Amino acid sequence: MAAMEQPTITSAYRSVGVTFDSLVFKSAVMRECLRLAASAAARDVAVLLLGETGTGKNLIAQSIHNASPRARGPFVSVNCSAIPDSLLEAELFGAEKGAYTSSDRLRKGKFELADKGTLFLDEIGDMSPQSQAKILRAFEYKEFERVGGESTLHADVRIIAATNRPLEDLLNSGKFRTDLFYRLNEFTIHVPPLRSRREEIRPLAERFVVECNERLGTKVKGLDAEALAKLEGHPWPGNVRELRAVIKRGCVSAQGEIIRARDLLLTLAPDTGKLLPAAPLSGDLSLAALEKKHIEQVLTQTGWSKKESSQLLGISRPTLDRKIQEYGLIRPSSARDE
Ligand SMILES: Nc1ncnc2c1ncn2[C@@H]1O[C@H](COP(=O)(O)OP(=O)(O)O)[C@@H](O)[C@H]1O
Ligand SMILES: [Mg+2]
Repeated sequence: MAAMEQPTITSAYRSVGVTFDSLVFKSAVMRECLRLAASAAARDVAVLLLGETGTGKNLIAQSIHNASPRARGPFVSVNCSAIPDSLLEAELFGAEKGAYTSSDRLRKGKFELADKGTLFLDEIGDMSPQSQAKILRAFEYKEFERVGGESTLHADVRIIAATNRPLEDLLNSGKFRTDLFYRLNEFTIHVPPLRSRREEIRPLAERFVVECNERLGTKVKGLDAEALAKLEGHPWPGNVRELRAVIKRGCVSAQGEIIRARDLLLTLAPDTGKLLPAAPLSGDLSLAALEKKHIEQVLTQTGWSKKESSQLLGISRPTLDRKIQEYGLIRPSSARDE
């Protein structure tokens, strides 16, 4: 990766999979985030990744592992929010044969499987305090027991945890144990949301176009200016994951080699983060009527700033002027001057 110091230890050990080199980044905030991640990789500290959904936490966790001295060991991932609490203990620590009525054989847990490697605890904010207590012990003393097991087992595991929840809220409400938090907090990295690194939207979009061409056989060359403006004006509550899905759909639905604004289906209203109101099932149901209403709302929201509105709407300034005329929208006298 460009302007970032590489942990020297890594290259010889780098295993197949995601590495820092495979991440797209351009902004200063992301460069700093990845610099921290790379420096954590070289040391055997626990890492806590905080950031909204879709910001790249999984990728960063894998990159840290692959850049660490444990790269030749396993990278084992557990999605804590996907497993009911009653099963989490067995999932993490394993279960002896017969521990459950249905278990006719011994099952190793993720801790054991991650021995000499990295255990990635995804969505750790969704774990119950009881499970957190068990994790803490395994974590601090590197020992645990399988469910239904007598003997204490050991595993040498490096932990990377991630959550998209605001940890402060979880700590204040007692949903997250402070002792576990302090243990995990050895090295916390904030992964910034996409809307605070908009200069990355374009290179990411281009990367995803290439990816779609390779994987889906589409033949897209790029995006036109209006399409790009539309992407750059969107709030991206689903962050990079949402962008990837939008581009994928755009590649498939594009007529020709260029993705146009109309090929990009954004499900959330620009900059409000709220769902677009469903069209009422009475009155004028045409798309034009909805478009008129939407443009009117955006103009009102921006105090009739055409510059801001055209950006939010993802259309050019002349297109906006044309639509204002076409729909007979009138600027109220109370609107601020541009
Ligand atoms: N910097 C990046 N470069 C390339 N792809 C990215 C980047 N950040 C995220 N992605 C892609 O976005 C999607 C979501 O990333 P992921 O790591 O799963 O996010 P999170 O774990 O924070 O929800 C994945 O498909 C991932 O490949
Ligand atoms: Mg994730």
